[in-house]
Amino acid sequence: MTRTLIRNGLVITAADELAADVLVDGERVVALAASGSELAQGWTADTVLDATGKYVVPGGVDAHTHMEMPFGGTQSADTFETGTRAAAWGGTTTIVDFAIQSMGGSLREGLDAWHAKAEGNCAIDYAFHMIVADVNDSSLKEMEALIGEGVTSFKLFMAYPGVFYSDDGKILRALQKGAETGGLTMMHAENGIAIDVLIEQALAKGQTDPRYHGEVRHALLEAEATHRAIKLAQVAEAPIYIVHLSAAQALAQVQQARDEGFNAFAETCPQYLFLSTDDLARPGFEGAKYVCSTPLRPAEHQAALWRGLRTDDLSVVSTDHCPFCFKGQKDMGIGDFSKIPNGLPGVETRMDLLHQGVVEGRISRKRWIEIACATPAKMFGLYPRKGTIAPGADADIVLYDPAATQVHSAKTHHMAVDYSCYEGRETTGKVSTVLSRGRVVVDGGEYLGKAGDGAFQKRTTCQYLR
Ligand code: URP
Ligand code: ZN
Ligand code: ZN
Ligand code: ZN
Repeated sequence: MTRTLIRNGLVITAADELAADVLVDGERVVALAASGSELAQGWTADTVLDATGKYVVPGGVDAHTHMEMPFGGTQSADTFETGTRAAAWGGTTTIVDFAIQSMGGSLREGLDAWHAKAEGNCAIDYAFHMIVADVNDSSLKEMEALIGEGVTSFKLFMAYPGVFYSDDGKILRALQKGAETGGLTMMHAENGIAIDVLIEQALAKGQTDPRYHGEVRHALLEAEATHRAIKLAQVAEAPIYIVHLSAAQALAQVQQARDEGFNAFAETCPQYLFLSTDDLARPGFEGAKYVCSTPLRPAEHQAALWRGLRTDDLSVVSTDHCPFCFKGQKDMGIGDFSKIPNGLPGVETRMDLLHQGVVEGRISRKRWIEIACATPAKMFGLYPRKGTIAPGADADIVLYDPAATQVHSAKTHHMAVDYSCYEGRETTGKVSTVLSRGRVVVDGGEYLGKAGDGAFQKRTTCQYLR
């Protein structure tokens, strides 16, 4: 087996920072020792990577992506191949994507379809959550079988009536099943019934521009749904995980539940930390590039979200990567913002944008690794195989240059989408080398991996509940 030695870096995990050498044998980390120590000096390897001046961090775990996802008559632009390769470029070595049950179909059919899309195509390791679009006796029964296959979390929607939407009774039943089986319910918390009324009223008034997407998907309708989801979970005595939280008022609901000692968890996404309704209101149709749900909020929400990341009321930062090209996809909504496919590209930029939060003093280095690697791995049953650097862990390791600067652009990114949400923005810090299960897949500005390197990861249930 190939032995790789990473010398002289600053190893950062959620728990520690230490100047250490890391020894990798085959696919696993086998040892860490202080750089320059007698023990580390004695190690030999086939490949030695010099990490002087660099951070040595766990590969990122992005617990929320949508590769080749059908939405609104089109499909997200990244395939499992292009999207996972872009993830690797950005220092993410595991994604958890969403398999989708279609209306009237079974969970099994949905999961099999997503396995078929991903298998043999991924650059990095991957796992699945299951979107339960049709809560009924038989899909509830199927949830248990899926947990046995390593698919241990289930997303429900309070938004998108007629597509993915579940009413409160269905949500309660799914939560009860979660309480019974250990499955974690993930909630898209927006009051979709009220939003649809506001969409209709806006369009009737001729308010068709992208910025109205943000107005009709009101922050209070996110807060209300978040509140309702948490109360339903409390009644069911089930844990709940709120996805893509963007509004300060929704965060307050999560905070209150957590202060009461309840198992409510939430993620936010880089776009809510760095972008705002100002982007949605860009001139012409440009704002369509920033249409996602939950929507971007006025900039004053950002401080509340960063604070939530510090207090752990927000435990995870995922991307909700769901890219649609500006030309040929986003433009389906010219003249009607409700027809703009919802979603933003981001799988490649998450680690860098969160590191920018470190540079700007908003979070510590260890917290960066906690919210981007360790907590998502624990939340979704992948830890300590993923999310840390420790003997026995998968050798998913990133050498990160904290001093390098980069300017983000669609011209240089690797996601299969024709724009960047951060075009022209400079950040400090850059991935220099990426190991995925011991193999160097990115190094010196070159991609060295191949489709099919990544393997399906069976997950255990949420590790915060034991
Ligand atoms: O706008 C978004 N978030 N698109 C992806 C689907 C979802 O609701 O997560
Ligand atoms: Zn969602
Ligand atoms: Zn209430
Ligand atoms: Zn999503």
